[in-house]
Amino acid sequence: MRFIINGGKPLRGTIEVKGSKNATTKMMIASLLTDEECVLENFPSIGDTEITKELCEHIGATVTIDGSTARLCTPNIKSHRVTQLTRRNRIPILALGPLLNRVGKAEVPVLGGDKIGARPVDIHLDGLKQLGAEITHDDKFFYASAPNGLTGATITLRYPSVGATENIILASVLAKGRTVIHNAAVEPEIMDIILLLQKMGAIIGLGSDRTIYIEGVKKMHGARHRILPDRNEAVSFACLGLAFPGNEVTVKNAVQKDLITFLNAVRKIGGEYRIEDDGITFFRKDGLVASEVETDTHPGFMTDWQQPFLILLTQAVGTSVIHETVYEDRFGYAEELRAMGANIAVFSKCLGELPCRYNGQGHPHSAIVSGPTPLTGITLKVRDLRAGMAHMIAALVAEGESTIEGIEEIDRGYEDLDTRLRAIGADIRRVD
Ligand code: EPU
Repeated sequence: MRFIINGGKPLRGTIEVKGSKNATTKMMIASLLTDEECVLENFPSIGDTEITKELCEHIGATVTIDGSTARLCTPNIKSHRVTQLTRRNRIPILALGPLLNRVGKAEVPVLGGDKIGARPVDIHLDGLKQLGAEITHDDKFFYASAPNGLTGATITLRYPSVGATENIILASVLAKGRTVIHNAAVEPEIMDIILLLQKMGAIIGLGSDRTIYIEGVKKMHGARHRILPDRNEAVSFACLGLAFPGNEVTVKNAVQKDLITFLNAVRKIGGEYRIEDDGITFFRKDGLVASEVETDTHPGFMTDWQQPFLILLTQAVGTSVIHETVYEDRFGYAEELRAMGANIAVFSKCLGELPCRYNGQGHPHSAIVSGPTPLTGITLKVRDLRAGMAHMIAALVAEGESTIEGIEEIDRGYEDLDTRLRAIGADIRRVD
């Protein structure tokens, strides 16, 4: 499937942010911790939740989705072997904890690297092993067991990985005794998952300095939870409001407290925003100016924001610098942007101040963007979800027609994007 976009049209109006993709899929896995029903409200209908639904059903859940409400109930674990899914995402490894707690064994697929980096899972596995899991693998599957059950432990992560933090939390809420996670990731999505788990009966506390405390309980129960709005959608739509003078986009449900770092970056490049009761309106009066940005774990500037933000920097006067410190290979999409007319050079040196794991290793993880440059529509293929969204924004900014191929990848994370963009004035068609 493709999107055909005629760019350069003014974008004005209100666009609503849906529930967070990266919280929803983990909450679906959290529901496997209990035999009672969990109800998730503000549930996004996206490719990634469909894939995770299949995963949960394979394990034994009944999943019913009615509009934006999902009900998940797993009275029994039908299969601890996650072996026959028709589509893949990175979620199955998070099912290890719930499966080990409920049936003492689990098999989940090994996921390779992807277009943004190698994406190893060593921190996940180290953490689970410290809780008492025995894990082996071949080139296709991880085989895990916990013959004596999982037991709490003090675990220090070598990097505050989002997935590893979630995996250890999901495994330890039903483990015997106390777990302490030092150097944990503290993204708002993780906080929201913790809220759901607390409603389900878990005992979880937050310490200062990236510490999470969990007291294992014997049983979890059903709960109802409203999923937090998707920060990545909010930022993507905000960038549309900032793309041209005259645009004005109200991002309904955008939450200021979860976007503080982004809002500061917007102000530094000369963008404007108004915080309202139920969202944030983005616009600009004058031209944008160049800036420097470094991605980091929360509360830093999120790695998933650099792609839409880079499109704004192509329209800013001067030379901007982006230092990507979370993934080693997240500038692949610059190639297509260059073909559209952007002036972007990518470097393996660290062009920033944050300590970076990629220093001296030759990964192309810094970019210099010189602007402003007019963009021209082209035909391009989506590489990964966030790069695809950057290409969408570039196509909406560009003069002329763009064709974006492989949009299933965009549908994985954005519900009904074309319809929502048309409602704020975008000229976009979905074609088979
Ligand atoms: N890492 C390791 N070992 C591990 C785990 C991670 O070296 O065991 C490295 C990764 O290779 C990466 C870095 O640590 O370089 C960060 O990875 P992290 O585990 O924090 O990310 P994730 O859980 O794999 C989630 C989101 C990503 C988002 C990142 C960072 C989901 C499904 N994915 O990934 O979202 O970029 O956190 O915030 O929640 C997206 O939505 O398109 C997306 C890629």
